[in-house]
Amino acid sequence: MSETSTERMAKIVSLCKRRGFVYPSSEIYGGLNSCYDYGPLGFVLKQTVKDRWMKSMIQENDNIEPLDSSILMHPKIWEASGHIANFSDPMVDCKTCKGRFRADHLDKATCGLKPSKTPLTCGGELTEARSFNLMFKTFMGPLEDQSAVVFLRPETAQGIYVNFLNVMTTARQKIPFGIAQIGKAFRNEITPGNFIFRTREFEQMEMQYFVKPGTDEKEFDRLKEVRRQWHISNGLKESKLRFHAHGPKELAHYARAALDIEYEYPFGWQEIEGIHNRTDFDLKNHEKFSGKKLSVFDEETKSSYVPFIVETSAGCDRTVLTLLVDAYNEEVVTGEDEGPRVVLKFSPQIAPIKASIFPLMKKDGLPERAEKIFESLRKHWRVEQDVSGSIGKRYRRADEIGVPFAITVDTTPDTVTIRERDSMKQVRVSESEIVDYVRKHLEV
Ligand code: GAP
Repeated sequence: MSETSTERMAKIVSLCKRRGFVYPSSEIYGGLNSCYDYGPLGFVLKQTVKDRWMKSMIQENDNIEPLDSSILMHPKIWEASGHIANFSDPMVDCKTCKGRFRADHLDKATCGLKPSKTPLTCGGELTEARSFNLMFKTFMGPLEDQSAVVFLRPETAQGIYVNFLNVMTTARQKIPFGIAQIGKAFRNEITPGNFIFRTREFEQMEMQYFVKPGTDEKEFDRLKEVRRQWHISNGLKESKLRFHAHGPKELAHYARAALDIEYEYPFGWQEIEGIHNRTDFDLKNHEKFSGKKLSVFDEETKSSYVPFIVETSAGCDRTVLTLLVDAYNEEVVTGEDEGPRVVLKFSPQIAPIKASIFPLMKKDGLPERAEKIFESLRKHWRVEQDVSGSIGKRYRRADEIGVPFAITVDTTPDTVTIRERDSMKQVRVSESEIVDYVRKHLEV
């Protein structure tokens, strides 16, 4: 019988917990719905994603600058951005079980009284749909009244828009240029789920590209392909990626055109990243609400204009989930290393640990040689030593966390074997050449 998407996701969630990628938040208190903590390997994996994203933006482009803006911002920003008026989902309540559901996601919800069944199984009746704003509210300062209300940002983008002129002038940029930011965003999602796919606290990697009106469509087409290629460069299977253009009913309140980069998860095709043509919607509204000019002067036409914005917005947690799902494989090994194995086939650049070093025995100087190899490799990459258990068990453990190279130190002097994770082929390499070998294979 073939595996269901729920079973496949359960295996991935279990591996993440067992091996220290992702834990449920506040677990000793029974957890907190839709919140997760990244363990040692998850932290490194997520940091690698963020480093690669930022490098692809600011190191590989002369005209993209980084920014780290605050999470709490002036509440008027959310009026100007349209989030107070429009950032909401339609919600219904069941009069019998008191369950609260997204009216457009009823098929994904479960009944309050019969959690294994869909809403209304309790025989209840739904209220009319009401609008539920997704922004988290809190108070700034000692008074808890309306004048002290601030919001946890639901997207990082607005911090970029309100700094657009600051960055342009201080970094001496000219249109077209971009601002890249990675940071936390918060949404009081009605139906979070699918592990770290949809949570209430998450990280976004957003780049806002400021362009001259009229060039926006061309930049939109260019950037969608640049972003697709970035996901492929992380090792995602090309066949599992596709574009989905939004129809008029799907468009967010700020977008003239929007396109999702989708991945085929066990639970179906879903968005990893959105590319949006936001026109001058945001900057013009910020001009209106702040009373400050946000236009630029065009030397060619000797006139001022408000730039258009093409946005690329990827979820960092969702990218991590996608890499885990894409890398997860179950295999049955025949021959010497016989038996089932679970292996995360991360591309070597993405793998949180690049090499595991195994001294075959705890004697005959093997641990000392392993230590020397470990010291030489750790100068360049995150590597580990594993000294206990049979070699077969150590291979299986390294496979399960996606280590691309397993280096076994045996009694043959001055050489080691290096086993490549996916092919499981072993080569004998001189000890003095291990660093070069790993470097060469990481660059592929
Ligand atoms: N600034 C535009 C914006 O925020 P979005 O399509 O709402 O656009 C962009 O979000 C990306 O952020 C999504 O493609 C997804 O990867 C990520 N994202 C959005 N909501 C999320 C959630 N609740 N949990 C995890 N990631 C989320």
